[in-house]
Amino acid sequence: MAEERIIVTSALPYAYSVPHIGNFVGSVLPADIYFKHLMMEGKDAIFICGSDQHGTPIELMAIKKGIEPEALADGMHHKIKGLFGKFGCTFTHYGKTHSEANRATVYEIFRELQRKGHITETESMLAYCNTDRRFLVDRLVEGTCPYCGGKKARGDQCDDCGRLLESSQIIEPHCTLCGGTDIEFRKVKNLALDLPGLQQKVEDYIKSASGNGWSKNAVHKSLSYIEEGLKARDITRRLKWGFPVAEEGYGDSVFYVWFDALIGYIGITREWDGSRWEEYWKKSGVKLIQFMGKDNLEFHTLVWPATLIGADSGFILPHTIYVLEYLTSRSIKFSKSRGVGLNMENALEIMPSDYWRFALAHLMPETADSEFSVEALVEVVNNIMNDKIGNFVHRVLTIARAHRELLQSEITIEEREMEEMKRILHGYRDNFDKIRMREALHSVVELADMGNALISARAPWVTAKEAAGNSKKEEEFSKTMGTLLGIARWVGILIWPFAPDSGREISRHFGMASDPKISDLYEKGVVDWGVELKPVFSKMADKEREALGAFSR
Ligand code: MF3
Ligand code: ZN
Repeated sequence: MAEERIIVTSALPYAYSVPHIGNFVGSVLPADIYFKHLMMEGKDAIFICGSDQHGTPIELMAIKKGIEPEALADGMHHKIKGLFGKFGCTFTHYGKTHSEANRATVYEIFRELQRKGHITETESMLAYCNTDRRFLVDRLVEGTCPYCGGKKARGDQCDDCGRLLESSQIIEPHCTLCGGTDIEFRKVKNLALDLPGLQQKVEDYIKSASGNGWSKNAVHKSLSYIEEGLKARDITRRLKWGFPVAEEGYGDSVFYVWFDALIGYIGITREWDGSRWEEYWKKSGVKLIQFMGKDNLEFHTLVWPATLIGADSGFILPHTIYVLEYLTSRSIKFSKSRGVGLNMENALEIMPSDYWRFALAHLMPETADSEFSVEALVEVVNNIMNDKIGNFVHRVLTIARAHRELLQSEITIEEREMEEMKRILHGYRDNFDKIRMREALHSVVELADMGNALISARAPWVTAKEAAGNSKKEEEFSKTMGTLLGIARWVGILIWPFAPDSGREISRHFGMASDPKISDLYEKGVVDWGVELKPVFSKMADKEREALGAFSR
């Protein structure tokens, strides 16, 4: 059955803070929804993600707390992994970048790059804080972005325009440790990936692969960087926390966090299964589908393919690089810094995970930034989840139970309605094929709409009353209910990638115990009258709104 093998990845969340809901909707959630869809389709797929554990922030936090970076990074890893579990995410493996499997992979790839002449040495001026007496790599230095004028540009990247930077390009730099400006620039050497030498191959790759569902933005931005000409990218850093660089003259350096994070996709697969990882990463025909937010674009469309092409060790290249835009909010605060704003942990204290998954998928910034607000959330939860979907399923089951004696437990759907359902299903699958999760969710809502319209048009509770001693009415009732129960059953199956707990709860009423498959839609459905009937969703009460209000700007 499984003719095609697929690796789904989500950008690896940094292990220095609990991801906020913007991070969640920007990579792990879409990847998880898409992976669940593949499971429903019976595909041979794995879902790889994990903690991005290295980097400057962890080292600094560890210094401040007086603990080892590894202990800090592992503690956070377990916490974040647990949270994703609570959000219903089903990774094949949620690993980490500071693992032996990744360490081995990083060294192997580095050696190959070196052997094939793709590692060069760069000399640059690195900010050095005379007060703290240390090099200010990456985000230890901040200032104005030379490209967009944004005021919070860091030594490695500007968050406003997303451009990668060198610390010496920053205008009016200051030290983020002491806040001071007593900074000098010292000449340092770094090992770098020779992007200029690999540029032509990367360009050819982008042009040939970008037809596979890449967003316009991803293609356009990447090609415009190439047009400007790529520069060599440093892959070493003067830090302690990371994988040490075992080269003469680099005793005080580790590999740059992005170098081992990208390779981490492979390392985590290897951590999952030390003997089978190559069947995924080194076999032609395996499709690698990668989800990420737009701030990760350049790393995935340029640096990552260049690393794989340069190593030339038979690794597959990304098939689809799926870049999401931002979830923005003028009213609710969520930010990367610790403890500030609505993150995944406090979101769960407000509402169960299915509400967030569904609502965030409904607002998913697939093709443009999308605005998150209390009103938008209330609208989705109350009017769509509760009124359209939850009420529909609950009403159908309530009416069916009230007149059980008129029904058989086997479900038969009327022909005309079945045609309509198939049309909606076709749209659902087509949207998933095109990786349009938000649109696929609309198909689920459309199905519930269809059910609601049918209930209103047929008023089965009236027919039921007239059915006593009237076999024509009795038949009419049972036909209508067969169709309505059939629609409710389909809703339970098709909603599963988005709201897995609720999907499973609905499916239990139809005697389905395990995770659903698309093929289940065409199985003969039955009603299990013994399952306790509870509302599928409920509206957001004042209590939840107030709790959310605590995060308003
Ligand atoms: N940790 C990065 C972020 O949260 C993403 C790393 S993606 C990987 O922005 F490719 F490096 F793994
Ligand atoms: Zn300083």
